[in-house]
Amino acid sequence: MSYQNKPTIFEETEGIKYYCACGESANKPYCDGSHERLGVGAKSPTQFVIAEDKQVAICDCGKTGNAPFCDGTHSK
Ligand code: FES
Repeated sequence: MSYQNKPTIFEETEGIKYYCACGESANKPYCDGSHERLGVGAKSPTQFVIAEDKQVAICDCGKTGNAPFCDGTHSK
């Protein structure tokens, strides 16, 4: 897996997003189809609607309880 032990923090735009959940995307935090191409199991992307432009912290450790957002679990 290519998970990082920290979130990806950036300015997100509104719209429907597909965030990587398998950890293998080359276009994180977004899905690039790697979960199917690499056969890494059932970790399909997390679909989420961003209602307005805002700063987000997208989980990249795979352990959050509030997907797709970081909830601080990576630091515990
Ligand atoms: S990166 Fe913070 S909980 Fe996953």
